[in-house]
Amino acid sequence: MRIKIAPSVLAADFARFGEEARAAEAAGSDYIHLDVMDGHFVPNITFGPDVAAAIHRSCNLPLDVHLMISRPEIFVEPFAEAGAQILTVHAEASLHLHRLLCQVREAGCRPGVSLNPATPVEVVRHVLGQIDLLLLMTVEPGFGGQSYIPAMTEKIAAARRLLDEYAPHVELEVDGGINVETARTVVDAGARVLVAGSAVFGHPGGPARGVAALREALGRR
Ligand code: DX5
Ligand code: ZN
Repeated sequence: MRIKIAPSVLAADFARFGEEARAAEAAGSDYIHLDVMDGHFVPNITFGPDVAAAIHRSCNLPLDVHLMISRPEIFVEPFAEAGAQILTVHAEASLHLHRLLCQVREAGCRPGVSLNPATPVEVVRHVLGQIDLLLLMTVEPGFGGQSYIPAMTEKIAAARRLLDEYAPHVELEVDGGINVETARTVVDAGARVLVAGSAVFGHPGGPARGVAALREALGRR
């Protein structure tokens, strides 16, 4: 089992996205994770489809786009055109999640659903047939550099059981507070894709050392 690593550019130098994304690629990352925030669904603003397209042009990593925005249906096509391979929406941001996920698929992306820490995993039970990825927030979304919420370990395990039973092909990704201290815990609980912002781009030795440190912490996992 090879664990995937998805560095989040939220912790990168916003003035050097191209170089930072190429450094993440050279480090052996699997995806590049883009945190899109609108100042409404979360109390922070990042960037939109034009910046995502620029990052897409600057490296060969698949774009793993995490929409933390209200009314995500408005931005499905723009992010698909920007090159999103995975397009993840929050269950809490949509009253019509099934329709939204079908829209994402029709736009040519792999659909993902993300859940805030307090949202139970059962929310996705009846849309498992529509998704390729389940993203569990292990901090409240909005900011990088927060601490992993310990109660999320049990939730990851619950999601693992749900996916193993009904949709084993769905990737289980975790996001927030993932570092050399927490990586092993989340993988042992069942996570298979690790988003890491500070642990990669904030590593004093640079992104390559950050990714290497995570892989080392995982041992043979
Ligand atoms: C938080 C974002 C995360 C964030 C993770 O809202 O979704 O992707 O960048 O940052 P770290 O790894 O620093 O917790
Ligand atoms: Zn994210």
